[in-house]
Amino acid sequence: MSNRLSDRLLSLRDWVDARFPLMHLWEDHLTKYYAPKNLNFWYYFGSLALLVLVIQIVTGIFLTMNYKPTAETAFASVEYIMRDVNWGWLIRYLHSTGASFFFIVVYLHMFRGLLYGSYRGPRELLWVIGMGLFVVLMAEAFMGYLLPWGQMSFWGAQVIISLFGAIPYIGEDLALWIRGDYVVADATLNRFFAFHVIAAPLVLIGLVVLHIVALHSVGSNNPDGIEIKDKKGPDGVPLDGIPFHPYYTVKDLVGVAGFLLIFAAVVFYAPEMGGYALEKDNFTPADPLKTPEHIAPVWYFTPFYAILRAVPDKFLGVLAMGAAILVLFLLPWLDRSPVKSVRQRGTLFKVILGVFVVSFISLAYLGTVPATPIATLFSRIFTVLYFAFFLLMPFYSRWDKTKPVPERVTFK
Ligand code: HEM
Repeated sequence: MSNRLSDRLLSLRDWVDARFPLMHLWEDHLTKYYAPKNLNFWYYFGSLALLVLVIQIVTGIFLTMNYKPTAETAFASVEYIMRDVNWGWLIRYLHSTGASFFFIVVYLHMFRGLLYGSYRGPRELLWVIGMGLFVVLMAEAFMGYLLPWGQMSFWGAQVIISLFGAIPYIGEDLALWIRGDYVVADATLNRFFAFHVIAAPLVLIGLVVLHIVALHSVGSNNPDGIEIKDKKGPDGVPLDGIPFHPYYTVKDLVGVAGFLLIFAAVVFYAPEMGGYALEKDNFTPADPLKTPEHIAPVWYFTPFYAILRAVPDKFLGVLAMGAAILVLFLLPWLDRSPVKSVRQRGTLFKVILGVFVVSFISLAYLGTVPATPIATLFSRIFTVLYFAFFLLMPFYSRWDKTKPVPERVTFK
């Protein structure tokens, strides 16, 4: 860059800075925000969740330009996007496969929290805001799935909304209020469209801002579970910290490159993800008179759907499904271990965490298959194990034999 141009850019920066805290924000959140030196692979998923959010918003805007949200036109407008709109197939697949990748990334992001105790003090609120994001993300995905107005869109929404009908006294009225009609219909599609394209994304963006503000106030945890702010040098900089920019901006780019390679491979070669991202039945227009043989939600809801089906009573099933999500909010207060990270936990915790992971993945699988007696039996066993992980945590987290926390961060 010629000197004159760089001088001009610098004076423009100073002009802005005299009127807006530009350099202040830059330093506070990037060049003088100190993150632990030892962040590993598991720390890629926060920035990747941000990336997927941007991909979903940008592709969503372009989809909305050609999508028509009425029961008569919705299905055909999606077909039009796929066949006639320039690059429409790519925009749609980026968005529909992007939804599945959002959940893959967020589930791994949450699992990192479990591994390293990132939900423990002082990060309880950060975790609770994260859980708020998870719940809104589920609502966003659920409403988005109705929009193509295929058989699975229609019947999935019909089944899930009718669950509200199981609530005593108010249930039926509540379900009617949500649908705006006696069955899922044009009114439902219209309101889901409004929520999917504007209300829920606004809430998501707002919560992400709160999430990052909370994160930058308490600072990142790390794989050793050490609070780096406890050991500062004479200059006030944490001894185990390095500036977020350039070190982690560059490191996160490696994660972005790896993610985009895998994402592109799926979008271009298996965009339906073998029927897991886009189900076969959704390529048939919605028909309120013809129930599909097997109704199953998309894979990212199936762990909770399996818990719902595991309980014989409909209302209790709804309660169990709600509790399975709500209990995650309580994690910071259920864990009583003297250490945060799995690196210092004992065999007891590691085995129980392993059983939890197996239970969660098994429930995800069981939620995709028909409810045969054997599938129901296994769903019940894994539902009990799922809840046991949380409800027994106050006990086993104390009984577990832990190792001492190192003085300074370590590199493995
Ligand atoms: C749209 C969804 C989300 C976005 C964009 C997002 C973004 C981020 C980012 C950029 C970070 C810092 C980088 C990192 O630590 O990986 C972070 C940290 C964190 N997030 Fe999220 N997040 C999301 C959802 C969630 C959810 C669902 C939870 C948990 C329920 C959660 C809990 C946390 C925690 C505990 C940390 C601090 C981790 C640590 O320092 O060890 N986040 N998030």
